[in-house]
Amino acid sequence: MPKIKIAPSILSADWNKINKEVKEVEPYCELIHVDIMDGIFVSNKTIDAEFVSKIKTKIPLDVHLMVQEPSEDYISGFIKAGGSIITVHQEACGDLKGKLELIKGQGAKAGVSIKPKTPLNAIKDALNIADMVLIMTVEPGMAGQKFMSGPIGKIKELRRLKPNLDIEVDGGINPETIGIAAEAGANVFVAGSSVFGKKDRVGAIKELRESIKQ
Ligand code: DX5
Ligand code: ZN
Repeated sequence: MPKIKIAPSILSADWNKINKEVKEVEPYCELIHVDIMDGIFVSNKTIDAEFVSKIKTKIPLDVHLMVQEPSEDYISGFIKAGGSIITVHQEACGDLKGKLELIKGQGAKAGVSIKPKTPLNAIKDALNIADMVLIMTVEPGMAGQKFMSGPIGKIKELRRLKPNLDIEVDGGINPETIGIAAEAGANVFVAGSSVFGKKDRVGAIKELRESIKQ
């Protein structure tokens, strides 16, 4: 099983003092999750590459593009802004393999994400290229939604197929649900409201980690 990584999502942080927010969690987590929404693939719109370029952190930025057909320029904008892992959605990309190759060609790690109702089969050709697979456990679009257990079977199947792959889970992760995802085989855990929605972020990350049975 690959290393456990906690990735607080800045979607639930205060964007007006983003560097203070990031600094507070940075020593206690492995990644910073950055949610990018285009108002097309999902109805909300969030931050852009210029905002991301202003985030100062020593740990990798895990950029989750909820974006319809992100272009080469658009993707490279996020890599230049400091994104270490760029994840695209299968449902948003006509040529998924091409997009992943493009990300890797620019020196970043490439992730592929599927929504709760998308079968694992939809990304089977991408599995040998992707550095990470993100299994959504809510419909993408906003923080604070309830964890869906339907995608758990996909995590189990993917872990069986890929023992060393980074499998990330995103949506409704809290101390009650993190164990379910971990037991199924996920090792990278995005947490928005269960970290930045809490006053004691350090305690919240610690509680998440302790809720994973080793
Ligand atoms: C939702 C985003 C998530 C979001 C998670 O579409 O992809 O990363 O920030 O928020 P929580 O952890 O509150 O469900
Ligand atoms: Zn996300």
